[in-house]
Amino acid sequence: MKAASHIYWCESDEKVFNLSIVIVTGSSGLIGSEAVRFFHRQGFDVIGIDNNMREYFFGPDASVNWNTTQLVASLPRFRHKAIDVRDASSVDDLFKAHGNNMELVIHCAAQPSHDWAAREPMTDFSINATGTLVLLEATRKFSSNAVFILVSTNKVYGDTPNNLPLYETEQRWELDATHPWSEFGIDESMSIDQTKHSIFGASKVAADVMVQEYGKYFGLRAGVFRGGCLTGPAHSGAELHGFLAYLVRCAVTGRPYTVYGHKGKQVRDNIHSNDLVQCFWHFYRDPKPGAVYNIGGSRLSNCSILEAIDLIAHLSGYKVAYSVSNTARSGDHIWWISDVRRFQRDFPSWAYTYDLHAIMNELIEAAKERYGAYVVAARATRSGR
Ligand SMILES: NC(=O)c1ccc[n+]([C@@H]2O[C@H](COP(=O)([O-])OP(=O)(O)OC[C@H]3O[C@@H](n4cnc5c(N)ncnc54)[C@H](O)[C@@H]3O)[C@@H](O)[C@H]2O)c1
Repeated sequence: MKAASHIYWCESDEKVFNLSIVIVTGSSGLIGSEAVRFFHRQGFDVIGIDNNMREYFFGPDASVNWNTTQLVASLPRFRHKAIDVRDASSVDDLFKAHGNNMELVIHCAAQPSHDWAAREPMTDFSINATGTLVLLEATRKFSSNAVFILVSTNKVYGDTPNNLPLYETEQRWELDATHPWSEFGIDESMSIDQTKHSIFGASKVAADVMVQEYGKYFGLRAGVFRGGCLTGPAHSGAELHGFLAYLVRCAVTGRPYTVYGHKGKQVRDNIHSNDLVQCFWHFYRDPKPGAVYNIGGSRLSNCSILEAIDLIAHLSGYKVAYSVSNTARSGDHIWWISDVRRFQRDFPSWAYTYDLHAIMNELIEAAKERYGAYVVAARATRSGR
């Protein structure tokens, strides 16, 4: 029995097993869960690895258990494994069991916060760097034909973007119009050397370079996507990670929001998780070993924090109760816009489906649905009911 051109099936006595498997690490997080749903829709069996360390990093507010429950309940060919990506023996066992049926590994599990990493550098490095190496080795040993995708970050460039000739406007910082990166954003030729990476940036550099190396040295079909701000309704937004999701959550629930430094005019580009997962789909079908891509919202979808606050009010009427602290996060980018044209040149049929308004509208609706009950309860408490 054959279901689709890329899927092979075999029948046992009672069940039909799909022999095309996608492994997604960080499967209950923002990007991981979007990837799980997408590849499941394409007909793959999907195995998700996530041990809910996001709750350990950012507290119960950021737990991803709600997402695990939804995935398990709604996707019949999805299996969840609460494995720690640092646990080489469990990871090896999983890969050994599925070996050549493994088509694709999408590695999204990470300690994702710049600020949190400085609290526990050993934990950060062991997850981001060693965890990535554990997965690369398992792939090389047991599934060497699989495509491997790492979700990396623009923090591998450290604070070098802050040396660009920026100027201040009423609502944002902007790059001098005569600069070659002004029109399309920052490309992959920016150096990742001689910069303040932050502890997080350094652990991600180690992972990023190792994935490139497994592509170039071992010929693994591995690629690196250096994300700007990645966002979408599945983000369990917390103060230390998930800027837009957390901002919208604060708007909807009335929780105060603190902007750290740069007068709230720092600029981020924002890509919807669905558009990023579409990139993975293109890469999976035509992988380029060792490739590195900057990926984000580009000029299409970027904003300063002040602009984001205004946009939320414009689209929904929710006003963010915010204050601006003079203390910037160490090494925080003042202006980042990704030039995504290298990816577009390699995969010309990929296109954005979300601009900033579409992203924001979806985040607002998702936050109302998820946190609406808290809002009603909080209002009732305030009014003494
Ligand atoms: N969200 C962003 O703005 C952004 C920007 C650039 C890069 N990235 C990168 O993209 C990737 C995905 O980010 P996200 O926003 O989906 O993050 P996320 O925190 O929503 O998801 C990551 C998931 O990994 C899990 N995890 C963490 N440590 C683990 C471990 N040791 N073993 C198993 N699971 C573990 C967490 O529980 C979480 O569910 C990360 O590598 C992150 O660094 C994110």
